[in-house]
Amino acid sequence: MSIPALSSQLRSHFKIGVFDSGVGGLTVLKEMTAQMPHESVIYFGDTARVPYGNRSKSEILRFVREIIAWMIDLDVKMIIMACNTSSALVLEEVRSEFPIPILGIILPGARAAVKAGKSIGVVSTEATAKSNAYQQAVQEIDSSAQVWQVGCHDFVPLIEDDRIHAPYTLAVARRYLLPLIDAGIDTLVYGCTHYPHLAPVFKQILPTHIKLVDPAKHLTVAAAQELTILRLRRSSNSPIEPTEFYVSGDPEQFANVSQQWLGYKPLVKQIPVSELEMIHAASSSTSDR
Ligand code: DGL
Repeated sequence: MSIPALSSQLRSHFKIGVFDSGVGGLTVLKEMTAQMPHESVIYFGDTARVPYGNRSKSEILRFVREIIAWMIDLDVKMIIMACNTSSALVLEEVRSEFPIPILGIILPGARAAVKAGKSIGVVSTEATAKSNAYQQAVQEIDSSAQVWQVGCHDFVPLIEDDRIHAPYTLAVARRYLLPLIDAGIDTLVYGCTHYPHLAPVFKQILPTHIKLVDPAKHLTVAAAQELTILRLRRSSNSPIEPTEFYVSGDPEQFANVSQQWLGYKPLVKQIPVSELEMIHAASSSTSDR
């Protein structure tokens, strides 16, 4: 698949679009705020359609196209897929369709995993596990590394419903993690951006010699490098602007759940799915796609 030339309209003062199905992408946003405080972000959580992890590739492709078309209308200079499922299933397709840099999280995660160990466990959504994206990416970098992938159907709804500290969540986490510990992994990758929110739970189960890899950190390093190469980085004396938050579902629910990680209650606006669909329909009728 060929990648189209980048639009000449992109400007360094534009914002960066970051999206996920829900609160998972906040783990990426947190890294961006720490590593690139002068960049300004539009965050979108597709909470009306979460979870993505049990959906088909064609559904995810449709959702991601809609989100990207909407973000381009808001004048963003880069799109960050803060979602492993979308990155695993549709990154190549959307990269070949939109004239804007689009970054996925699998490759930065796989690179970091290979640096950390040789026996790599990956916990992810079922769709990401089935896609084999992590296994392929890891083995392209180091063919001697071994990869165990576990699709964890139950985690995302528990996180979105703010049930991280429930005893049931600990029991579910044991069910997913114990087979990986038994397999002898030395490294565990959070293969879903929601899962770093479960760190307090994982740490109760995992032996301390297993290294935890959060791809969000490495994706953010890659994004900063790409912006520099493209001369789209904001200067370090640019004013720091608050993140703009949008969701397709209930803004109040998102604001309430997310404040524990953001450290403040965000102002969240709703962009209904019907509006995303309309914007995408209008943009595809005026392009060659
Ligand atoms: N946080 C996303 C991921 O990294 C999506 C999870 C979901 O909606 O199932 O895969």
